[in-house]
Amino acid sequence: TRKIIIDTDPGIDDAAAISVMLSEPSLDVKLIASVSGNVGIEHTTNNALKLLTFLKKDVPVAKGAAAPLLRDNRFATNAHGKSGMGGFEFPEPNKELLLKENAVLSEYRVLMESEEKVTILTLGPLTNIALLISTFPEVKEKIQEIVTMGGSTERGNIGIYGEFNVTIDPEAAKIVFRSGIPITMVGLDIGRKARLTVEDLEKLEESGETGRMISSLFRSYDGGHVEEGVKMYDPSAAMYLMEPELFETKDAFIDVEISSPLTMGATAVDFDGTLSETKNAAVCVDVDAERFRRRYVKRVADTECK
Ligand code: BDR
Ligand code: CA
Repeated sequence: TRKIIIDTDPGIDDAAAISVMLSEPSLDVKLIASVSGNVGIEHTTNNALKLLTFLKKDVPVAKGAAAPLLRDNRFATNAHGKSGMGGFEFPEPNKELLLKENAVLSEYRVLMESEEKVTILTLGPLTNIALLISTFPEVKEKIQEIVTMGGSTERGNIGIYGEFNVTIDPEAAKIVFRSGIPITMVGLDIGRKARLTVEDLEKLEESGETGRMISSLFRSYDGGHVEEGVKMYDPSAAMYLMEPELFETKDAFIDVEISSPLTMGATAVDFDGTLSETKNAAVCVDVDAERFRRRYVKRVADTECK
């Protein structure tokens, strides 16, 4: 099994990603760290606890950064609702899962205590991870890989070229991309291609409690335009960890724009060596969308038996 830390800002699609990861036998999720992003830190932390309580999974949760490194918070309540997981009534959260230690210290401890290297999956802004590797550079040796939902090889969703997770805390993203840690970027273009159809949502509804929860969240996600298909941003990064054969990757040098107001947060993805820099990431450039949908729906149905 592969040890995993999930750093996340739940978040409707975060919840959809985490739900399938927790019943994958090849993954051992050691920690869920919250970060401010889609909504404020109190909400994202509480949402992680609510989701785990609903799924009856005992994964420790650590509360992370309350704001980006240099910038003010900008939330995505338009897409995720005021609380960040609108569209479904969750049970009261089990607060016993919340660690006393904050996210950076908890991530540090999990990494240093582990004999094998640990993979970090990020589904929100990279604030905690930037703080972690700046405060404790020795953790770099313990990180197998960072798989990140963030950035874009095409256009953005918060600026013309800026993707939300990177643009909310571009300095943090820059620190992470420059860290030398192996990175796989699962960007916006992949989540836009891997969409669930209305029929998939109906299948989820028939599959059981977890499927009904996910479908109901998605029906209120981003204005609820489900007829266009539901964009699977965070679930794509989760699926990459579980079924990498559904994706095609290409190595590139990636850096983040932090100074131009027009292109703030844009990920400059250099596949061809134009900038003469050493490649620092693998970038998902394609996904088998048909198989992705079938496999995701099947995984949700399977959570009922585990
Ligand atoms: C990312 O932004 C958030 O709103 C989603 O949860 C996802 O992580 C997509 O840009
Ligand atoms: Ca997210």
